[in-house]
Amino acid sequence: MFQQNVSLKPFNTFSLEAKAGHFKAFNSVEELKEALNHRKGLELLVLGGGSNILLTKDFNGLVLKNELKGIELVRETEEHYFVEVQAGENWHQFVLTAISNDWAGIENLSLIPGTVGAAPMQNIGAYGVEIEQVFEKLKAVEIATGEVHTFSHADCQFGYRESVFKKELKGKYIITSVTFRLNKEPVFNTSYGAIKDTLDEMGIEELSIKAISDAVIQIRQSKLPNPEEIGNAGSFFKNPTVDKIDYEGLRAEFPGIPGYQQPEQKMKIPAAWLIEQAGWKGKTFGPIGVHKNQPLVLVNYGGGEGAKIKELAFEIQQSVATQFGVELTPEVNII
Ligand code: EPU
Repeated sequence: MFQQNVSLKPFNTFSLEAKAGHFKAFNSVEELKEALNHRKGLELLVLGGGSNILLTKDFNGLVLKNELKGIELVRETEEHYFVEVQAGENWHQFVLTAISNDWAGIENLSLIPGTVGAAPMQNIGAYGVEIEQVFEKLKAVEIATGEVHTFSHADCQFGYRESVFKKELKGKYIITSVTFRLNKEPVFNTSYGAIKDTLDEMGIEELSIKAISDAVIQIRQSKLPNPEEIGNAGSFFKNPTVDKIDYEGLRAEFPGIPGYQQPEQKMKIPAAWLIEQAGWKGKTFGPIGVHKNQPLVLVNYGGGEGAKIKELAFEIQQSVATQFGVELTPEVNII
């Protein structure tokens, strides 16, 4: 039923070595249910693309690798396409499929690593768009019972890199498919400065979802390390939110500090700025380090250890807390 002692190195984008005591890749919901029936109390770890995980040690339980595949246009209205995508599909391949079919709404989310099933868990977002804006519903198997449940937008309790699946329902469900509500008439989102600049540089005169996707791909490729070349899990920390009054205090002391207005008198501060000011940008420590273009990304150049990356993250948190009194929270799941 399960493979034993399987290396997880090919299944995590940090390319960290760790062994799974038991391992099963599932291609259908029936296979998943069968695996759950046979797990006999083993601790579970579900992997999609392994792009948001830091493995610091071997995992003695059961690793389930989601390989559910399929993209289906299930319904159309005058304004929308409703597309159900199986959770094991690669996110970026789905974005490219959407663009080639003229399904609009996810072009700003091009080139984000990971799978479709992992996307709603942390409400992936980039360049002014979050997945919740095009989310219709999802299906998930309840681990305790093997039953399939449907979750609406409200059920998912989306927030900034948050959903109910990272909070109350953490470890309780396995997402099997996600249905998106994509637009027939595109609504271009070029509010993020870098997109406008890149479209200008590319000489784009007429906007299209393809042009936005190309611009996003160009920005990401110029700033972020490609996990196939340098191990990483994207942004390691979330951008912290502080009370506006505390932000004003910080600005008095550090006039250059950037901040973005949030609801309820809050300000979001780029963690990348805090980490760079604290002196970490581009630093390397043997095989691991802080990326030279985007200090929010921790990297494994090859042969690094997850436990060492965890220590580095802790040191970064401490130095930012000491210098700015701001707490950084990891975005990545640490196992
Ligand atoms: N900055 C610096 N130094 C740097 C880089 C950035 O000070 O070296 C500051 C600048 O003030 C810059 C600001 O950080 O204006 C924002 O930088 P960037 O546009 O690169 O975005 P980010 O806030 O660092 C977030 C997401 C990324 C997403 C980008 C683009 C989080 C945790 N990260 O990063 O998502 O691609 O915006 O929308 O919200 C991910 O989650 O894995 C991820 C890569």
